[in-house]
Amino acid sequence: ISLKDYNTFGIEANARYFFEFDTVEEIQDFLSKNDILNIQYLLLGGGSNLLFTEDFNGLVIHPKVKGIKIIEEDDDSVLVQVGANEDWDEFVAWSVENHLSGIENLSLIPGVVGAAPIQNIGAYGVEVKDVIESVEAISIESNKKVTFSNAHCEFDYRYSVFKNEYKNQFIITHVNFRFSKQAEFKVHYGAIARELEAYDEVNLKNIREVIIKIRESKLPDPKVLGNAGSFFKNPVVAKAEADALKAKHEDMPVYELNETQSKLAAGWLIEQCGWKGKQIGDAGVHKDQALVIVNLGHAKGSEILELANEIRKSVLYKFGVKLEMEVNAV
Ligand code: EPU
Repeated sequence: ISLKDYNTFGIEANARYFFEFDTVEEIQDFLSKNDILNIQYLLLGGGSNLLFTEDFNGLVIHPKVKGIKIIEEDDDSVLVQVGANEDWDEFVAWSVENHLSGIENLSLIPGVVGAAPIQNIGAYGVEVKDVIESVEAISIESNKKVTFSNAHCEFDYRYSVFKNEYKNQFIITHVNFRFSKQAEFKVHYGAIARELEAYDEVNLKNIREVIIKIRESKLPDPKVLGNAGSFFKNPVVAKAEADALKAKHEDMPVYELNETQSKLAAGWLIEQCGWKGKQIGDAGVHKDQALVIVNLGHAKGSEILELANEIRKSVLYKFGVKLEMEVNAV
């Protein structure tokens, strides 16, 4: 089966076997009849953070669990259970319509709800970990339901335990979100604050509108131009190293994380190396955001990787900074 429609890069790749399911019972039934632990398998959500570099000679498992359900409500908060295959942005739209605040800054992020905790999606000063109460999954080994608390997920910048220790061991079926009824807007991010000045009120709907506008101005729509969002992570380096770079490059953006570490803007570093708008074959660096690699036509995964490697080399050469991929190569 072709995976072209299952990855937002729009890469042509085939999977040998493919299984999709709508309910927890269906996947448990499948796992009870098929011992998949000794074959190659891939858990595939929205495919928006994924790069196929060759055909996948194994089994692709694709959850299709739907549903947005309020399962608990008190004076202070609301607990919402969401199926793994709900579209992330449609869920954000739902939360805004229902006056629940917490994820409006994460508007227009591509992908599905079940994938959001895996890399702890984030934008404009908010990360999904801030509202996740727990994650429900099926253990592939035991075929039992497991619920992970927020703490158990070990969330960090674009990181959770599902990317490391528990990689490929659990099939996420639902995510539970806790929304506070006290709206607390995070609009300190420069571009958002500026755009909001044009509105007479700061509310959920307006914040969502502004974020969509900002994202649409810089980030390519995967339906039009294949991509997987930021291709690299913003590098975290020693504060001393960041300070030394800043002394040489005055306009370099630096965010102090704590007393010893700072985060640099990978997009800025890449742009400074002259990559913005450049291409190698059908693999290109987006013209409005250098952190995004795009498929300009029929790029192969291997071509995208080649471009990524060239970018890494030049950033390392010019700034001495190592870029790490944010996208998962398969
Ligand atoms: N910059 C440049 N040139 C570029 C791109 C960025 O000079 O080509 C500069 C900007 O001017 C700014 C700084 O770099 O000073 C940061 O840029 P921006 O605010 O656009 O965000 P980012 O750091 O490039 C991160 C996330 C995005 C998220 C935005 C907004 C990562 C890896 N990326 O990008 O997340 O939407 O912040 O919060 O952390 C994603 O993960 O896929 C993603 C799109």
